[in-house]
Amino acid sequence: MPKRKSRPQKRRRRSIIAFEMIRLDRTATEPLHEQLYRQIRDELKSGKFSEGSSRLPSSRVLAIERGVSRSTVRLALSKLHAEGYVCSKPGSGTFVANLLPESFLTADQPRTYQPIQRPARISDRARAIPDKRAGNQFDLGATGAGPGVSLVASIPAVDEFPIAVWERLRAQVLAKKGVNLLRYSSNRGDVDLRKALAAYLCDFRAARCHPDQIVIVAGMQQAMLISAMAVLNPGETTWIEDPCYQQTRRVLSLAGVKIVPKAIDTQGIVIARSPKEPLPRMIYVTPSHQFPLGVTMSFQRRTDLLEFARAHSAYIFEDDYDAEFRFVGPPLPSLQGIDNANRVIYAGTVSKILCPSLRLGYIVAPEQLVDSFVKIRSAMDQHSSPIDQATMARFITEGFFLSHIKRMRKIYAERRDFFIKQFNELLGDRFTLQVPEAGLNIVAWLKREEDFEMVKNITSEIGVRPSGLSFFCIQAKLKPAFVFGFAAWTPTQIRESLVKLASALRNHGKNSNYGRQSR
Ligand SMILES: Cc1ncc(COP(=O)(O)O)c(C=O)c1O
Repeated sequence: MPKRKSRPQKRRRRSIIAFEMIRLDRTATEPLHEQLYRQIRDELKSGKFSEGSSRLPSSRVLAIERGVSRSTVRLALSKLHAEGYVCSKPGSGTFVANLLPESFLTADQPRTYQPIQRPARISDRARAIPDKRAGNQFDLGATGAGPGVSLVASIPAVDEFPIAVWERLRAQVLAKKGVNLLRYSSNRGDVDLRKALAAYLCDFRAARCHPDQIVIVAGMQQAMLISAMAVLNPGETTWIEDPCYQQTRRVLSLAGVKIVPKAIDTQGIVIARSPKEPLPRMIYVTPSHQFPLGVTMSFQRRTDLLEFARAHSAYIFEDDYDAEFRFVGPPLPSLQGIDNANRVIYAGTVSKILCPSLRLGYIVAPEQLVDSFVKIRSAMDQHSSPIDQATMARFITEGFFLSHIKRMRKIYAERRDFFIKQFNELLGDRFTLQVPEAGLNIVAWLKREEDFEMVKNITSEIGVRPSGLSFFCIQAKLKPAFVFGFAAWTPTQIRESLVKLASALRNHGKNSNYGRQSR
């Protein structure tokens, strides 16, 4: 038998013209074919369908759908054809013309009006968010890390994410739970996921909690927003670390609370306050690994902070964003695990452990707060994707979560050691590295403070993009430094980026007599 010729383009394309909207009035004096012609023409003239590939339904289908005879449809189409609105392709059907008549006939052109430029009315709430970005600067997310840019802080190695395993588990949960995963689901979060997380947090973060204290959220930012909205009234005071994770300031501004920055010393957040300072209702901290300075909060500071919170009925928001990646010494227990007064709201995220695009995180709330948190989540966006939550639950219970953390800890430890060695060799004359015990970032202090602007410009020109430490400061006046990320790049890429940076700085030095000045 002769083989059938394959015709891949022959796939039926759905018409993008809204024929359902055509209304034919049988009582009108205007003939039906004229009404049909006019309404299709007006739809085409609206300018939305100038794409030549838009196919019209066949005259048979149109006739059935509109309840008219085929000859009525043919009359309307032949008029559209004669006027150049549609064209026929033998064997394929009728298509919107590539150049519609209105595009080249000026007689019928509508008058163009100059739009009146008035500033849009923006709420005080939107204005108050400390974010200077505009337009497509938002498209790269909070880190601004575009493709081809390296050593950006806070980026995990997402290319190590076990996509195949995830996809297999996802298919399994879909096969097992089917349409149940397509419905609206629990505002608290998937029960299996909450159980799996409670077990993980008790075993590996020394938390003390049960699954009913866990609320699944869309990442750390949402955890902060829900917590702030649940325990703070607008205008009430929150302490935050200074310097701080930039999204914390933005989220807390959105919640309308008063932000009071607190300095960081070698033990963590400084609790001392002047008598005039209002007492905080909430205190945001990153005890495992302060962002961005990398300080691990000392045991003494942890107990002092818990005692302060207990004495003043404040809540502590513990952002445990990257505690899994600790490279020196034994793992430290979470603050939540040593809190005996129900003052700690603990929150974690899968953004660093797995990948940020999942937008999955978890709150461990003091029991008496759980309902308020769930109520807010319900009013906000109901819940995170049930399919992702169920997949994540399987990912944890089948042991992939722990093995991934273990594997990533090893990869990151190697990259970290490599980064430190190469950095000191290539850039040790310009910077002093402050190596933290944990985390995916390292702060490099400039030896010559006046180099800051020059280094900032060069790094942004060459696409090696650490963040200036001052970017994270509110009131803190720290010496100039840059926060480098090392986790998302292979040793080869790390070396290439550092060589590029060192040579760009050297060339700049030669051109501006840096060497002579510094002698
Ligand atoms: C201190 C801190 N918390 C949390 C996160 C992650 O938050 P999310 O879960 O919203 O991605 C980051 C990311 O860099 C961070 O630096």
